[in-house]
Amino acid sequence: MLVTRRIPSAVLARLEAACDVEMHDRGDLSHEGLLQRVQGKQGLLSVVTDTIDRAVIDAAQALKVVSTIAVGYNNIDLAAARERGIIVTNTPDVLTEATADLTWALMLGMTRRIVEGDRFARTGQWTGFALDFMLGTDLRGKQLGIVGFGQIGQAVAARAAAFGMRVAYTSRSMQPSPLGEAMPLDRLLATSDVVSLHCPLTADTRHLINQTTLARMKRSAYLVNAARGSVVDEGALVWALENHIIAGAALDVYEREPEIHAGLRALDNVVLSPHLGSSSIETRTAMIDLAARNIVAVLGGQPALTPVA
Ligand code: DGY
Repeated sequence: MLVTRRIPSAVLARLEAACDVEMHDRGDLSHEGLLQRVQGKQGLLSVVTDTIDRAVIDAAQALKVVSTIAVGYNNIDLAAARERGIIVTNTPDVLTEATADLTWALMLGMTRRIVEGDRFARTGQWTGFALDFMLGTDLRGKQLGIVGFGQIGQAVAARAAAFGMRVAYTSRSMQPSPLGEAMPLDRLLATSDVVSLHCPLTADTRHLINQTTLARMKRSAYLVNAARGSVVDEGALVWALENHIIAGAALDVYEREPEIHAGLRALDNVVLSPHLGSSSIETRTAMIDLAARNIVAVLGGQPALTPVA
């Protein structure tokens, strides 16, 4: 099997006990490299930045399982995998709480101007306490609008009561929830003080946040994205921020990672984190472990633990 990133030695040892393992341990594996190295492999342990398209599936004639160390799997051509009977697995649940925590860190960091304040404090220009200095915005009493109400969206919602926020949400099923009020996207955008994105990236959600939807938001509202970069049209977001169509944004994911739109990097009312949603020691360990167990199960003739739907 092929492992596209360095993984902890304990997990590597477990994989090696089950099958032959080839590990790429020097950063990103190029698409060309992936096409070559996947040949003859029965298992592929991959990450979010590996593009597993039809060309990769075609090159991997022995492939039985693709196990991605992520909950999102928009980087994998599922149709191509299914045609070949290849099982695709992901790592749901184990990263839910870490991603919800990071979402709240972004929300607080942005509305209370922590990152901007940190930048300023380091310049040595701070002259002392002042009553009107770097005022942020309270979250208490405001509405948090959650777009995508799966495990992560719900975990974000579950924390809202502690901050005195009411929750509105929109989801494919619009199932009622004790955590908040379901409402159509247009109404959620028009009434929320913070809009937080937690939907998967699909053909339907690509550029869901664009000039039109941004213009529906309150001028005082903030946008948070810890889902996938391409759910937001970054050019439109820069336009909205520069023209004060919305008050600010906090982003963990980008359309062309690791590249970040120069317009976003230039603005003070934006908090940028480099795809850290699930990046705690405990959570990454659990993700890698689950992904490895999925591979071992399938190659050992057992059902996958967490196949994608
Ligand atoms: C995921 O799990 O989809 C994250 O984006 C990768 O950490």
